[in-house]
Amino acid sequence: MSNQGFVNQNIKPLNTKRNEKGNLEISGCDVVELAKKYSTPLYVMDEATLTKMANDYKEAFSKYENVKMTFASKALMTSSIAKIFHNLGFGFDVVSMGEIYTLLNSGIDLSKVSFNGNNKSLEEIAFAIDNNIDHFSVDNFYELEKLNLIAKEKNKIQKIHLRITPGIECHTHEYIKTGQSDSKFGFDLNQINDAIELIKNEYKNLELVGLHAHIGSQIFETSVYFDEVKILLSEIKRIKDKFNLELNEINLGGGLGVTYTKEDNPPSVYEIADTIINSIEIHTKEFNLKKPVLYIEPGRSLVCSAGFSLYTIGSQKNIEGVRKYVAIDGGMADNPRPSMYQAKYFAEIANAKEKDDFEKVTVAGKFCESGDILIKDIELNSPKSGDILCVYDTGAYCYSMSSNYNNILKPAMVLINNGVSDVIVKRQTLEQLVQNDVIIDRLK
Ligand code: LLP
Repeated sequence: MSNQGFVNQNIKPLNTKRNEKGNLEISGCDVVELAKKYSTPLYVMDEATLTKMANDYKEAFSKYENVKMTFASKALMTSSIAKIFHNLGFGFDVVSMGEIYTLLNSGIDLSKVSFNGNNKSLEEIAFAIDNNIDHFSVDNFYELEKLNLIAKEKNKIQKIHLRITPGIECHTHEYIKTGQSDSKFGFDLNQINDAIELIKNEYKNLELVGLHAHIGSQIFETSVYFDEVKILLSEIKRIKDKFNLELNEINLGGGLGVTYTKEDNPPSVYEIADTIINSIEIHTKEFNLKKPVLYIEPGRSLVCSAGFSLYTIGSQKNIEGVRKYVAIDGGMADNPRPSMYQAKYFAEIANAKEKDDFEKVTVAGKFCESGDILIKDIELNSPKSGDILCVYDTGAYCYSMSSNYNNILKPAMVLINNGVSDVIVKRQTLEQLVQNDVIIDRLK
């Protein structure tokens, strides 16, 4: 089941096997030992898998002469993860002051960073300009006005892209679609002319250089990328003819899907790259345009399969003839995706078992909600209290969307590589949990 295809087509990280003890071993680390050493729940990231995927992205797009790779930080942002992508030559797509701050904390400047988001605050805009961000992807008229004003105050000409909604439907979960017309993000195609008029005539501190779109996440179709390129380039052609302005940058966003369970069948990054490059060839010829600088900003596909979560199994509840619940020491606060998007995950017992005796169970979290079910109906090898459960593909949108629901502490994160393991995010402490609480005088 694992290691059959490219990284985003695998459920498990590279180099996943059972060792001589019968324990799960990933990248030379005994997973049961990791759980013992760092305690559970635990997020683990395998550097080799992450690096392979990042290098596949670079190689797949190397056929195109001018590509800018950025990592969509929202998928997983910690100081060490940022460092890894920076060292691999990636820039970043950020959506908040917090993400910018994390980069700066890692000693990464903003020269390869784009700022996305549909409601950036004035404080965030000023902070990004002060720290010399490369460009903003401007989402709406309000932002155009405010950004121009702040850039003017700071005596800067700010490079921008316009984020547009290309009106492309893709077949993914309703909440993670973004490119369809009825979306909170970006300028509608029929608002672009007005935006450009404003930039040309009034907003003199903005320099428009490109168009940006993002059609959705966990995408399995290559054709939507072909269409996205076509729409962006046809807009560039229209803008060139109407305003005598040739924009020379396009950003296609992220979206490439990954394999959470064997039902998922995403294309490889090479197929996506070929589709995109082919569409650029065809449509720059058709519209008689220069080949643009190409930005892509994948998130999930770069980190998802490199990550897994370890839990300890505790209580069990068997409802005869109905279902057996197996409860773990984490759940919806460290991985909200099943309860938010009905996301499905694959898991297995990490510790050795004398023999195979699989039974169908439902993995429940420990949070006080019936909806806190991590995996419904999965075959596990005789799950017992004290067993370590390894849930795969938790590298994206788990840590970054985690919460302190029920005042339960956030897990630590460990980076593994070839037999070595290091904490890259410490486990939260009880003191940290209440550090911002204030007990006001009259309550004392
Ligand atoms: N660029 C933009 C402008 C985006 O909005 C996103 C994701 C990306 C790039 C990266 O997309 P990716 O390659 O990761 O698909 N929390 C949801 C996913 C939300 C995605 C939001 N935007 C989930 O857990 O499935």
